Amino acid sequence: MVCGYQQDERGHSLKFVFTTERGLEDILADSLRGKGEVTPFPFSFQGRVLFECSSAKELLEELYSNPFYHKCALLLDVVEFSVERSALDLFYWVARKGPVVDFLIPSVSFGVRSVRKGKHPFSSQEVASYVGAGVIDGARIRKGFCPRVNLSDPDLLVIADVVNNVFLLGVELVGLEGMHRRGWRVYSHRAGLKGTLANALIAISGVSSEDVLWDPMCGGGTIPIEFVHRCIGVPPGYLRKNDYLFLRTSVFDRELWEEVVAEVDFSVAWQAEVKALASDRSVKALEGAKKNASRAMVEDKIRFELADVKESSFAKEADVVVTNPPYGLRLANPYKAERSLEVLMRTFAGSKARRLSLIHPEPAKVKEIADKHGLNLDKDLPAYNGNLEVSLILVSKS
Ligand SMILES: C[S@@+](CC[C@H](N)C(=O)[O-])C[C@H]1O[C@@H](n2cnc3c(N)ncnc32)[C@H](O)[C@@H]1O
Repeated sequence: MVCGYQQDERGHSLKFVFTTERGLEDILADSLRGKGEVTPFPFSFQGRVLFECSSAKELLEELYSNPFYHKCALLLDVVEFSVERSALDLFYWVARKGPVVDFLIPSVSFGVRSVRKGKHPFSSQEVASYVGAGVIDGARIRKGFCPRVNLSDPDLLVIADVVNNVFLLGVELVGLEGMHRRGWRVYSHRAGLKGTLANALIAISGVSSEDVLWDPMCGGGTIPIEFVHRCIGVPPGYLRKNDYLFLRTSVFDRELWEEVVAEVDFSVAWQAEVKALASDRSVKALEGAKKNASRAMVEDKIRFELADVKESSFAKEADVVVTNPPYGLRLANPYKAERSLEVLMRTFAGSKARRLSLIHPEPAKVKEIADKHGLNLDKDLPAYNGNLEVSLILVSKS
């Protein structure tokens, strides 16, 4: 056993594994630095960041306010094992003896989820079923009751991940639905961007709250909405504050959560002036973006315009352009997508804006078009949007 649910030599008693989109590990890690010990790619696990701190409050503040994560698990045990089938018995015993059982009472249901990376002579379903059996036997023997299993909507979601020769046991704090869903999306654009990726694009653009941000292909408005939320301090969990899974069990104190939420909510600068511009050539998308902004409570801070990118009046006002053009995979055909990219780049070159950040699966194509317009490609950060390889790209003017 290399770590457990107890204080280590640095006084860090609490260990958490944040999950994010692959490629955003360093951005998430940077946002956590200074608040605790941070390790991106722990155990070479892509899409994960280990966060160690000594106070539950620090973690709860991140759970509510950090814009770059999807899920987060309280880590209870990390165990090294030899890669053979008998490791399943070890997982059973770790679950049976470990602190997961402490969170169970007869009214609390549980389920187990397992992600497996590497080559193993067993499946992730087998890992989950051995761990589940260990939890049930642990509760029967140590607490005298048989806990209820609920796989579709458990109160306590046990995480049993296996990465090469390391077994991680924890409990999920957010729930089955990741925090990239903020809760404001009443209109779902068919190529809607995750809130986490939108924030990563905003971060690499270097835009500040004094700048005018423009998304000329705004779809359902994710980027301008997330930008305004960042500027005025609306936490990503604002509309989901009562949904966090840990509230159904005793993993953390509800009163501490309510204190954190009250403090963060109190500091939201609802009256602050922020300039965000959102345009799209689709009536349906633009109307949807307005509905989303209204649900996100920031419709008064975003100006909307129905316009093709090349004709928008916003080009004269924007300081920074942040956008998610159609890729050709989900929206248009590849030829149309390339034309949209060309028009976007030409419009940016002729606009007032100094920087453009965009997400695209073909960075070489973006560079070729940027070169043609005398623009610099300053950053190309490989990432994933689900299973699609993309790049988060920063383009600037000389
Ligand atoms: C990938 S979607 C944007 C999705 C958005 N980020 C969201 O989260 O909902 C691309 C959008 O670009 C718009 N679009 C494509 N070509 C355009 C153009 N030439 N001018 C303006 N909008 C355009 C489409 O109507 C579509 O809504």
